[in-house]
Amino acid sequence: MSLGVTILGATGTIGVNTLNVIQQHRPRYRVLALTANTAVDKLYEQCLEWSPRYAVMVNADAAAQLRQRLQLSNPDIEVLSGVESLIQVASMDEVDIVMAAIVGGAGLLPTLAAARAGKKVLLANKESLVMSGQVFMDAVKQQNTRLLPIDSEHNAIFQCLHGQDKLAARKILLTASGGPFRTHPLEALAHVTPEQACAHPKWVMGRKISVDSATMMNKGLEVIEACWLFDTTPDHIEVLIHPQSIIHSLVEYIDGSVLAQLGNPDMRTPIAYGLAWPERIAAGVEPLDLKAIAQLDFSAADTDRFPCLRLAYEAMLAGGTTTTILNAANEIAVAAFLQARLKFTDIAKIIETTLANLSGRTASSLEIILEDDAKARDLAEEAIQRLYPSHSPLLRTA
Ligand SMILES: NC(=O)c1ccc[n+]([C@@H]2O[C@H](COP(=O)([O-])OP(=O)(O)OC[C@H]3O[C@@H](n4cnc5c(N)ncnc54)[C@H](OP(=O)(O)O)[C@@H]3O)[C@@H](O)[C@H]2O)c1
Repeated sequence: MSLGVTILGATGTIGVNTLNVIQQHRPRYRVLALTANTAVDKLYEQCLEWSPRYAVMVNADAAAQLRQRLQLSNPDIEVLSGVESLIQVASMDEVDIVMAAIVGGAGLLPTLAAARAGKKVLLANKESLVMSGQVFMDAVKQQNTRLLPIDSEHNAIFQCLHGQDKLAARKILLTASGGPFRTHPLEALAHVTPEQACAHPKWVMGRKISVDSATMMNKGLEVIEACWLFDTTPDHIEVLIHPQSIIHSLVEYIDGSVLAQLGNPDMRTPIAYGLAWPERIAAGVEPLDLKAIAQLDFSAADTDRFPCLRLAYEAMLAGGTTTTILNAANEIAVAAFLQARLKFTDIAKIIETTLANLSGRTASSLEIILEDDAKARDLAEEAIQRLYPSHSPLLRTA
């Protein structure tokens, strides 16, 4: 029997890679719903190829355009719009697996809905856990939901913990490529452009996560994500710079053993692992040639160069909605940087100012989380406007 799949964020990097893996195993999986925000052309092409039952575009104008185009070619596809429709296709009965690959806080409600409906959730949208770790994990426990991490690092840790005595794990070593600015002159960082920040040396990713990788906030969000996924604390997680991105993470055990998961940097590996778990299926990924790679390097992460990493550790230690505030401020700052309204080095400053102006509180309900998320977004926007009242930080002067 084939398994019904909803892909939230189908038009993004993870969404496209998921369809690529499913394409290799077509009878095994059935695409029931594809979602996007505004990318009409891309979702239209995917609808022609996959004929899902539902296509959701969050943006109402985009949905109207898609509906009109599909009326001629595929009138059976129901085109929906709005966040409620994302929730609907993430939790409907016919769905077995939900790939949660929307970027940012927009992914929280449908991903949580999938967890609450007891679907097998493939979690790429790390922001869900950063925003609402306790609420999310409570839903997972209550429904006995199978939650499989798709972030390559967490997928590696999951594999290294599998079948082991979890209590015997001493430390998680979370690897990081260090992004495009690992060795960039510190004084030149203020002038890097969005294009430079998005040119990741090892991974092809969406623009927001690419900037997060460049500031290393991505690694910070991953530390928080790992705490929730593996029920641990930040002091048991060490970030290890590993520029080749071949070892995706490691777990150190009390007997001195260190287990690692290796592979070429290709998201189809964790996606295939998540789709088929506990089995394994082919992913179309090139075999790893260690002889050709020859050398693997490691070093400590530099929190002076990457203050966002320090802020994320501090936020997780503070607990409650502090990580919600961190995530919201980061999203606003990154969006402003991508619009050339903010310098690269201002991203950490805006987050720090927002954290200083809004105290976290116990994250006991979704309402509280969404309230602090909204407040933090407003405060971050105000901080940007105070920094650059004219909206002109004179970027690209390098
Ligand atoms: N890319 C990677 O290698 C990678 C690795 C690990 C984890 N992740 C995580 O996976 C998630 C997706 O990353 P990505 O690189 O695939 O991002 P991406 O390429 O930017 O794609 C984002 C997807 O989310 C949709 N989207 C954007 N804003 C939305 C909104 N407000 N409401 C509903 N849908 C919205 C986009 O639709 P449109 O196309 O219409 O804008 C697109 O389908 C992120 O949380 C990221 O941290 C990614």
